[in-house]
Amino acid sequence: MMSDLIATLSPEEVSEIEHEIGLVPRRDGAAIDALLIVQKHRGWVSDESLKAIAGLLEMSAEELEGIATFYNLVFRKPVGDKVILLCDSVSCWLRGYEDVKARISKHLGIEYGETTADGRYTLLPVPCLGACDRAPVMMVGDELHTHLDESDLEMLDAKEVAL
Ligand code: FES
Repeated sequence: MMSDLIATLSPEEVSEIEHEIGLVPRRDGAAIDALLIVQKHRGWVSDESLKAIAGLLEMSAEELEGIATFYNLVFRKPVGDKVILLCDSVSCWLRGYEDVKARISKHLGIEYGETTADGRYTLLPVPCLGACDRAPVMMVGDELHTHLDESDLEMLDAKEVAL
């Protein structure tokens, strides 16, 4: 039964997860890495994937769900091609976070937790990204954007986004 579940993961995913498990004293110590490995391959972590990962880590799906929920960079719903993570912690807030958030939402026509109709962008809040001296900041996919102002929205390329 459990092996059926684990079979929903690809051999590549299993091998990458086993590698991470080999680096920690307990199998469940690789939980976040395992979730992020599957997310890297699939874009997000479905319920079925989560159960399979839990099986591989020899922990319950409920325990792993708790970790996935706590760690807000694990996406439990499908997301756009690129996820915009906008920092809403104090330094960014003091440096104009609210204006940036309003401009992004207006520009893309989405609120937090939503994805543009063309599937290109998902917008999510994130705690401090560790670049407070360059606030306000956001991640777009893997890229960090700092000192945000109106010009930073141009790279989101409104023309191609179906509002
Ligand atoms: S508060 Fe935004 S990067 Fe630290």
